[in-house]
Amino acid sequence: MNAQVPIELGALATEELIDYIVSRFHTGHREQLPELIRLSRRVEHAHAGHARCPEGLADELEAHLQEVESHMLKEEQVLFPMLSRGMNAPAQGPISVMMFEHDQHIDAVERIHRLTHDLILPDDACNTWQRLYEGLAHYAQELTQHIHLENNVLFAQASQAVKGAQNA
Ligand SMILES: [Fe+2]
Ligand SMILES: [Fe+2]
Repeated sequence: MNAQVPIELGALATEELIDYIVSRFHTGHREQLPELIRLSRRVEHAHAGHARCPEGLADELEAHLQEVESHMLKEEQVLFPMLSRGMNAPAQGPISVMMFEHDQHIDAVERIHRLTHDLILPDDACNTWQRLYEGLAHYAQELTQHIHLENNVLFAQASQAVKGAQNA
């Protein structure tokens, strides 16, 4: 088989990858985060004064949701359309901004882990508290995979394509 990937196939792969990222992770985060904020408000209210109460979690999650939402909109409206059209060189600037924001998202998840004592439930945790920490663990996993797929696959492919073009 010819080692060269036809240009149409390369474009299709990028678009498929983008569709997958948006439908699984962007849509998923938009569903999960408001629910996690709702649950954390309930827990903070019901267990105020409890030694393990994750005080400040709902506010932290709300700030995180705003950052993630504005980040995803930039990807959907600016960067992903550039990548689908193969505009890999001009995409390098936006890619480095997105990678910087990914690091900020990871910092937010670390703060969330500190506020929740690494998601370890107290013995007397109610159902809502349990659902909250399960949801947070799931969210952190999804976010990690999302960032991995963008940094190490989608963005890496675009950077490789630029290097390839320079060496050609
Ligand atoms: Fe994304
Ligand atoms: Fe991203």
